[in-house]
Amino acid sequence: MACLNTLVRLIIFLVAGGIVRSSLADDTPVTPVIGVLVQEVYKDGLISRHFEGITSYIAASYVKYLEGAGARVVPIWIGRNRTYYDQLLVKINGVLLPGGATWFNQSGGYADAGEYLIQGAMELNDRGVFMPIWGTCLGMELLIFKMANEVETRIDCSSQGQSLPLEFKLDYKESRLFASASDNIITIHSKENVTYNWHKFCYTEEDFSKYGLNESWRVMSVSHDWNNIEFISTVEHRIYPFYGVQFHPEKPLYEFTKASIPHTSASILSGQYFANFFVNEARRNLQKYSNTVDLDLVLIYNFKPEYTSVLGSSYTQQYLFSDGDMGIGDGDDDDDGTSYYPYPNNDDGAATQFCTKTSFLLIITVAVSRWLS
Ligand SMILES: *[C@@H]1O[C@H](CO)[C@@H](O)[C@H](O)[C@H]1NC(C)=O
Ligand SMILES: *[C@@H]1O[C@H](CO)[C@@H](O)[C@H](O)[C@H]1NC(C)=O
Ligand SMILES: *[C@@H]1O[C@H](CO)[C@@H](O)[C@H](O)[C@H]1NC(C)=O
Ligand SMILES: *[C@@H]1O[C@H](CO)[C@@H](O)[C@H](O)[C@H]1NC(C)=O
Repeated sequence: MACLNTLVRLIIFLVAGGIVRSSLADDTPVTPVIGVLVQEVYKDGLISRHFEGITSYIAASYVKYLEGAGARVVPIWIGRNRTYYDQLLVKINGVLLPGGATWFNQSGGYADAGEYLIQGAMELNDRGVFMPIWGTCLGMELLIFKMANEVETRIDCSSQGQSLPLEFKLDYKESRLFASASDNIITIHSKENVTYNWHKFCYTEEDFSKYGLNESWRVMSVSHDWNNIEFISTVEHRIYPFYGVQFHPEKPLYEFTKASIPHTSASILSGQYFANFFVNEARRNLQKYSNTVDLDLVLIYNFKPEYTSVLGSSYTQQYLFSDGDMGIGDGDDDDDGTSYYPYPNNDDGAATQFCTKTSFLLIITVAVSRWLS
């Protein structure tokens, strides 16, 4: 471990020093980096039963969803203080609050972290920094709940495993989300069952009016659940670049765990439309990590997704994290948890030898390449 760690640090040192030419020089144009919030796992749930010490996860479909639109992903940890979220928000270009299943009253989890992110993003936008947030399903619910100062206006609703069209409001074209949608995109959403729903809570237009939420949010579409209850399916904030969808645009693209998930070409176009829209919003934010090494160390590539649907999960693949990964609790990660090397923690002879040889070769290679240039 120590040896591989040293090797990694050596490479990083060389890259940082500009000795090894990186294809990602600091003056390259900003490519969108989106923070995806992790979510707490259930203490006695499927993940806890199969993996030791795992406290949070991201369904890999959210990562692929953003990657498919040209973004890179940084996991955002739960359980950290406001400073952590504020420091992160000045480096990334957007935030995605994924769906899932957790209560908003659970302290130190998804809802608290979401609150810090939403507050931080509002403050940045107020200062003229364009910082978009996307909320999917539970993420949309949290976005609306937090911006309503925690007034709970969700109602029970029954839309598990339901593929639905969007019933557009008359003025949907005035929204940012659909202003530049092609006729084909509008047609498939209004006529075909392309949006996949899996939720037991929802918001209604009636309550939005009752609680004044219609003043701050624009409702672009509604849909109807199994009991014919009309619920809000897409919203955007009237001032902030915040978006919410009650359905799961990432599932037709990347989840194969339920027969009810549509995988028609129209449902794929639908998912890609929303991913492209949000990543394009993130492109308007020009922030970046001060150097590529800092970014390299926090990107999701430092982790490997597990194939969890074979264990019975409703996600095909999941990224799983421990408190140590997240820099909280008494995890054994170094520094402040912002860097993570996913290498095996065995310092046996073979590894050491491999390391010494590799370091040696690396130094030779660098020396030769410097000499040649
Ligand atoms: C926030 O947590 C970090 C460690 O992650 C710590 O260094 C810092 O002092 C904390 N800040 C506040 C304001 O508590
Ligand atoms: C959170 O809310 C749920 C639903 O109302 C409730 O069952 C649960 O006990 C609450 N948990 C805490 C920690 O208050
Ligand atoms: C959409 O699904 C409903 C059942 O939920 C079905 O009645 C309808 O025909 C479907 N529409 C299309 C275009 O497939
Ligand atoms: C919000 O709803 C209220 C009550 O129905 C209505 O008077 C008001 O005009 C609505 N505001 C917007 C911006 O639509």
